[in-house]
Amino acid sequence: MSKAFDLLKWGATLGKDEQNFLGAKWVPAFLKRVPERSKRKWALRVLDLSPHYFLFPDDPKYKGLSKDEYLEAIAGDARVSREKIRDSFLLEKLEGAGTLIDWGCGPGFLSKALSPHVGKIYAVDISEGALACAKIINAAENIEYVPGDDEGLASIPDSSADAVISFHVFQHLSDEIAKVVFSDIYSKLKPGGRMIAHVQAANETWRSEEEWRSDDSLKGKVRLKYGLHCFGRSEEEYEAMIRGAGFDEPVFEMMKDLMPAGEDDLSGQMIVTALKN
Ligand SMILES: C[S@@+](CC[C@H](N)C(=O)[O-])C[C@H]1O[C@@H](n2cnc3c(N)ncnc32)[C@H](O)[C@@H]1O
Repeated sequence: MSKAFDLLKWGATLGKDEQNFLGAKWVPAFLKRVPERSKRKWALRVLDLSPHYFLFPDDPKYKGLSKDEYLEAIAGDARVSREKIRDSFLLEKLEGAGTLIDWGCGPGFLSKALSPHVGKIYAVDISEGALACAKIINAAENIEYVPGDDEGLASIPDSSADAVISFHVFQHLSDEIAKVVFSDIYSKLKPGGRMIAHVQAANETWRSEEEWRSDDSLKGKVRLKYGLHCFGRSEEEYEAMIRGAGFDEPVFEMMKDLMPAGEDDLSGQMIVTALKN
C-alpha cells in the first residue's frame, strides 16, 4: 500500500523529461501562491514528494517527530552533509574559483554551503520544482537558480566558469545524457577551469545501465520508469566519456579517502577532477 502511494506521489510530480522529479508544472505554480510565512514549510513538504532529496526517512532518529519537525530535521541533516563535503575537500579543490556552476543542484544545499566562499554561483537543475524549492530554502544573493533547459543554459555565458561541480547526478543519467552533460559542462568552463564531479563506480549493488535496461521484472521496469535506478559505471567508462567531451587527464579519487573516517557508506563513490585546457 505504501509503495503504491509512493508511486502515485512520484508520478504526480514528474515532469516530462527523464529524471525530472518535481518537474510537473503545478509544483512551482503552487509554491508561488503559498503565503510568504508558510513557504518554507511547503517547500520542504514538496521536496519530500520526490525520492531524490530526503533519502533516509526511516532513520530511527526521526521517530516520534511530527511531519514538519521531521522535515526540518532531515533538511538540517542535508545541510550538514553538504557542509562536510565542502569542508573535507571541496573548498580546497575550488581554491581561487570566482564563478561556479553547481550542475544538478537539486534543492541547493551544496550551493548554499559554498555561497560565502565564491563570487557567483549558477545553480542548474532540470527540475523547475526543485529550483522553486531551492529558491525558498537555500536562497543567497550570489546564487542564481537556472533551469537546465536550452534557454536556461544559454543564459550562462560559454567559457565563463572557473569551476563546475556536480554531486549525485551522473548516477541517474543514461550514457547518452551523461555525454551531453559532460560536453555542456566543458562549454561553460573557462580554459583552465576545472570540473569536480561525484560519480558512482559499478559494483555488486550498483548495476550498469545495460543490466537495468535488460531487467524484465515488473519491479525493475517500474524503478527504471520512475527514475529510481542508479547506474554504476567503471572508472574507464567515465574516463572515456569525460575525454570524449574534450577534457584531458581526469583524476579519480575515492570519496572515502577524502572524507573523515566514519562517514555514511561511501563505497564506490568517486570524485573525478578534470581540467579544460
Ligand atoms: C540526487 S539529486 C542531487 C542534488 C544535489 N546535487 C545534491 O547533492 O543534493 C540529482 C539532481 O539532478 C537533477 N538532474 C537530473 N538530470 C539532470 C540534467 N540533465 N541536468 C541538470 N540537472 C539534472 C535532478 O533534477 C536532481 O535535482
